[in-house]
Amino acid sequence: MPDNETTAPSLENLLHETRAFPPSTEFAAQANAQASLYEEADADRLGFWADRARELVTWKSPFTQTLDWSDAPVARWFADGTLNAAYNAVDRHVDAGLGDRVAIHFEGEPGDTRTVTYADLQREVSRAANALASLGVTKGDRVVIYLPMLVESVVAMLACAGLGAPHSVVFGGFSADALRSRIADAGAKVVITADGGYRRGAASALKPAVDEAVAPKEGEPATTVEHILVVRRTEQDVAWTEGRDVWWHDVVDAASDVHEPEWVDAEHPLFILYTSGTTGKPKGILHTTGGYLTQAAYTHRNVFDLKAESDVYWCTADIGWVTGHTYIVYGPMLNGATQVLYEGTPDTPHKGRWWELVEKYKVSLFYTAPTAIRACMKWGEDIPAGFDLSSLRLLGSVGEPINPEAWMWYRRVIGGDTAPIVDTWWQTETGAIMISPLPGVTATKPGSAQVALPGIAADVVDDEAHSVPDGGGGYLVLSEPWPSMLRGIWGDLQRFKDTYWSRFEGLYFAGDGAKKDEDGDIWLLGRVDDVMNVSGHRLSTTEIESALVSHDVVAEAAVVGAADELSGQAVVAFVILRGEHADDAATDEGSARVEKALRDHVATQIGPIAKPKKILVVPELPKTRSGKIMRRLLRDVAENRTVGDATTLADSSVMDLIAAGLSKPSASED
Ligand code: PRX
Repeated sequence: MPDNETTAPSLENLLHETRAFPPSTEFAAQANAQASLYEEADADRLGFWADRARELVTWKSPFTQTLDWSDAPVARWFADGTLNAAYNAVDRHVDAGLGDRVAIHFEGEPGDTRTVTYADLQREVSRAANALASLGVTKGDRVVIYLPMLVESVVAMLACAGLGAPHSVVFGGFSADALRSRIADAGAKVVITADGGYRRGAASALKPAVDEAVAPKEGEPATTVEHILVVRRTEQDVAWTEGRDVWWHDVVDAASDVHEPEWVDAEHPLFILYTSGTTGKPKGILHTTGGYLTQAAYTHRNVFDLKAESDVYWCTADIGWVTGHTYIVYGPMLNGATQVLYEGTPDTPHKGRWWELVEKYKVSLFYTAPTAIRACMKWGEDIPAGFDLSSLRLLGSVGEPINPEAWMWYRRVIGGDTAPIVDTWWQTETGAIMISPLPGVTATKPGSAQVALPGIAADVVDDEAHSVPDGGGGYLVLSEPWPSMLRGIWGDLQRFKDTYWSRFEGLYFAGDGAKKDEDGDIWLLGRVDDVMNVSGHRLSTTEIESALVSHDVVAEAAVVGAADELSGQAVVAFVILRGEHADDAATDEGSARVEKALRDHVATQIGPIAKPKKILVVPELPKTRSGKIMRRLLRDVAENRTVGDATTLADSSVMDLIAAGLSKPSASED
């Protein structure tokens, strides 16, 4: 921990003295959420959601049925209503006379800025929708978006929504290979990208990855992509295919700024977002329109206590992740919020960049991930202390468990010891926040996401699906359908059923371990499946293993997520090399060379975020008699623990061999 933490009271004392932080009277008096929401939802859960859908969403034609669960586990919410997501996020605010309200304060990493009002956004989204239509995009067509954090990224998503064309945003940090498989799985007609973006003080390229992703490849069907729409951001040279590639500024700027939204059924697909699962193939999580928007708007309003007329909100996520979808684009914009959109990294050009922006824009609601908080802790509290953070009145955390120490630091150093912290648990699959304190109502507790929101039914169960008593641990499940739940995995209904609905009869299995404390509050304990959480990003052990074994030198690979002080978990790979390569790697120099080659290979196959922090060359892997790799034992090794029960190993001497091999220090990535 940083030296300057020594002046703070010891954590144990703090936790002892202030196990929970009740809301201040002042906050509670003005909070959007009231305790009565829980009672209201308990009394009539479907009625509660129907009320939220009418209150927060504008319908072209009203729904008459709230939930149809007859085809469970595929839910249909508000199914006979019609609406449009872009209309709800933008046009209706202009219609309501709020066109001059700032929607986005954009800050580029180099320091360029742009202020976009809701009226500006309406014109821009309409132009983009018309431009996409001129490229042949119509209702139901899929559009892949592969962009940095730009105003155009938000515009592109909303333009697709305006056309009823589901978007599939692919995080700009994913490789060409990862992009290719997502484009193919979604069957995208158009890809929207940029020449590049600014990150860590330099321009990085994006368009070459798209060119590679749509290029013909032996043994694979021709791409479905007809056009690539390219935003000019960095002025770097780009390769150009006439007829296929189109500049955003040529077609969007020239298009009409009036566009009639495509009214769609509530269950019309709004987006597909790929996320890592327990197999090598990412899952295209499908979200539809009416239920998703209802829960996005409801949670954004109540969990962040948004006062749209006065708050300035900032969520630091990338639009390539679900947090960017629900809590940059749809939730805040449905609520007519004013927000900051920042292109770059928190430490460029200096480690106070975020806090400088909080001061500059008087940000009042701030939402980030525990990894970022831990990085800021490491940099030292002098850095945020150099800025005026007094505008902050609520802080949010998402993506991974937040350790109580980081929670306390966040509250004290960033929140001035007054701002409530909402630790929000949810997933790409849940579409919106499910478990979180309600600010102004619930006392907050360092490290616990606490209770299911009104209208949501969550529980912790044991292996036999029995609810555990307070003080017990088990698996997190969701026991009632919720409006923003995934409607399936794109093109693979069976996988949807197998992954989420087969572990416990009638319950949604989230894949997270959890416990209930003595007050019945929920603590999330991390994944219980082969999914890792590195810096709040979801990665699949199997996907990284597949990437490793696709390299010539690797015979076998096993990947585990090992506890890491900064990133929560870190990717650690154990590899067996093929014949002669094993000899090469016997020297320090040789093994460093192999490790670098493998790390680069994973970056090409998946993306830099998946690069193993450590690669350990081993002679054997621990396997059960049925050939299953015992990752639990490898995790013990990776976390420097005494290796646990190894009696089910086919060959019990394997762990000794691995331990012997590990006595030689391994080069690890910084
Ligand atoms: O393990 C949980 C963790 O992130 C997983 C979902 O990842 P993803 O779909 O990428 O969505 C991340 C942003 C919503 C969960 O299964 N997770 C998310 N939020 C929390 C969390 N773990 C603990 N506490 C949280 N607040």
